[in-house]
Amino acid sequence: RQYAAITGIGGYVPQSKRTNYDLEKVCDTSDEWIVKRTGIKERRILEHDLATSDMAVKAIQDLALQYNKNLSDVDALLVATSTPDMPMPATANIIAEKLGLRNVWAFDMNAACSGFLYALDMAASLVETGRYKNVLVVGADNISRYVNIYDRSTNILFGDGAGVVWLEPSQEGGIMDAYLTSNGGGREFLTIEAGGSLYPIEANAIETESRYLRQDGKTVFKHAVQSMSDACTKVLHRNNLQIADVNWLVPHQANQRIIDAVGRSLNIPEGRALSNIEYLGNTIAATIPLCIWQNIKQINTGDLIMLTAFGAGFSWGASLLRW
Ligand code: ACO
Repeated sequence: RQYAAITGIGGYVPQSKRTNYDLEKVCDTSDEWIVKRTGIKERRILEHDLATSDMAVKAIQDLALQYNKNLSDVDALLVATSTPDMPMPATANIIAEKLGLRNVWAFDMNAACSGFLYALDMAASLVETGRYKNVLVVGADNISRYVNIYDRSTNILFGDGAGVVWLEPSQEGGIMDAYLTSNGGGREFLTIEAGGSLYPIEANAIETESRYLRQDGKTVFKHAVQSMSDACTKVLHRNNLQIADVNWLVPHQANQRIIDAVGRSLNIPEGRALSNIEYLGNTIAATIPLCIWQNIKQINTGDLIMLTAFGAGFSWGASLLRW
């Protein structure tokens, strides 16, 4: 079987930090409450004159430098994002132009926090067919633009960032399996309502609130734990694997308590569920590649890795890969 293997990973987070102490100054919250309920201490916030494509470009340049890759080899570029630079053209086209990439199959995919896993699976399929040989999969979001700084039910969670992986054909292993699914019935519990064709931003009828990310935290929390645990279990079963066979679990970084609850539900040994939420918060489609990128020194060739995500839609799933 021809697999699609990850042969490079890169990341970028903005310099500017928004700490819990910064949030204490704008709403009724505390560092102690946020750390206890979420595990987050700070998040990164993108400068106002930059956009999602700028972070993605820096992440791709980081990958190219670290792994000695030639960007002119890239034949497809998939960008998972809920916060494109603009409705049209795709952010993937803007990134390609900024990097001087010609002749790339480039487009965006929106599956919210599950976007990276969705895009990874699609990119793996492209490589497995043999028609594409060097495919970049980006997860990037500038979600701070959509967070109401005064709303303590969301401002504590989210930050900006971009991560990217390079996929190439391999006979030895790579993306082994993926289970991805969705339930649009969950859309009312986690949403940014305005800005699309249903509620255009410029329409006078739009209340300011609708421009911002809104969620029912408790409902999202419950579904996130259940859905990610179920997806991982399904992937393990159909590959005749036990959780003990998995070297690393890389869950979407939404809340440390969600990560811990998924780890407990799967019974994964202590320390095997990777996390970097403390200093980045939830970067939406970027969390999984950024978490691998920041923990890369721990991961060895041949390790079995389970990725799992849950996000707006609801959309969720799990992917299994041999590093
Ligand atoms: N600071 C201080 N106190 C707070 C804060 C805050 N930021 N937020 C809520 N509280 C108070 C509440 O008013 C409540 O007070 P009360 O007991 O006097 O009524 C108490 O703290 C508990 O509030 P809960 O809402 O029950 O807190 P919870 O433990 O559920 O934590 C949180 C809230 C952090 C939002 C949690 O529900 C969560 O993380 N949910 C998942 C959200 C998520 O991950 N969303 C993104 C998913 S991925 C994607 O696609 C974007």
